[in-house]
Amino acid sequence: MARHGKISVIGAGFYGTTTVQRLAEYNIFDTVVITDIIEGKPEGVALDINQSRSIEGYETKVIGATTAADGSGYEAIADSDIVIITAGLPRKPGMSRMDLLEVNAGIVGGVAKNIAKYAPNSVILVVSNPLDEMTALAQKASGFPKERVIGQAGVLDTARFTHFVAEEAGVEVSAVKTLTLGSHGETMVPVPSVSTINGKPINEVLGAEKVNELVERTRNGGAEIVALLKTGSAYYAPSAAVARMAKAVHEDSGEIFPVCAWVDGQFGIEGVYLGVEARLGAGGIKAVVETKLEADELEALKIAAEAVRAKQADIANL
Ligand code: NAI
Ligand code: 2OP
Repeated sequence: MARHGKISVIGAGFYGTTTVQRLAEYNIFDTVVITDIIEGKPEGVALDINQSRSIEGYETKVIGATTAADGSGYEAIADSDIVIITAGLPRKPGMSRMDLLEVNAGIVGGVAKNIAKYAPNSVILVVSNPLDEMTALAQKASGFPKERVIGQAGVLDTARFTHFVAEEAGVEVSAVKTLTLGSHGETMVPVPSVSTINGKPINEVLGAEKVNELVERTRNGGAEIVALLKTGSAYYAPSAAVARMAKAVHEDSGEIFPVCAWVDGQFGIEGVYLGVEARLGAGGIKAVVETKLEADELEALKIAAEAVRAKQADIANL
């Protein structure tokens, strides 16, 4: 497919800059815009990435723009097809994603209003934490149809689960298929029943006890990296995750990913943003997929739905 279209990334921190690098290197967009409130940082990042083009062999242009609280600078994202929100604070050691709620709600709410003003037909991909709540907030603040606002967490959590299973089994990651649903937090729902190594159920290959250990490590996957980095959180796997989602939307691929999507009736769950499998393409979510789950996994998904519903309601009262 010829290079076309415009995508914008809000926030030029670790997550935003690595995402822009990946998007530019795909060489499928005409333009990638990066913005931040730190004067000069997005412009500097754009100049640096553009200078790698002749080495890496791609033509996508990156444009940097500093934005201000009054909305100035947002003209740079005008008419973007996709906007990725990475703006917000990351976790420090010992902090939960929920500790970020109030401050990031202020940031994400303001960003979403500016996206609605300057890129009213875009698909919004949210990554700022706490993820499920920020996705719900971005939809509310933008006023966009729910299928056009999607959160990234499940692609990352699934990739972490896959990595841990592959390491434990001593096989290539390509031999492993896993899935996580639910929230990007304590009520994450890794799904062993559909997870396989060379086509065989992981419980059969590794045993239920070992699988439970890997499930627990996956749930704590973000915190494990925060504790090692000491400052900030993961960004290489997270940026790979959201860039792949953006590519699917851009190319109208119809691929199925685990994402934070509006669930209304599927799995017997009513009206909440939750991690489920969904088909992505132009216009965002094409369909939520009702993955066949074991009874205990479905129960865990329903518990996750009620946990995030309560927190998403808290946001409405901020
Ligand atoms: P970072 O601190 O490196 O970057 C955040 C950037 O946002 C900073 O450059 C800051 O100046 C900018 N910013 C703050 N307010 C802004 C505004 N109003 N407009 C534009 N830019 C603004 O943090 P990092 O590592 O890039 O993480 C970003 C977010 O992504 C955090 O909330 C983090 O918790 C989340 N995250 C989510 C993951 C997921 O799977 N959903 C995985 C990893 C991180
Ligand atoms: C992660 O899972 C902190 O949400 C971030 O790495």
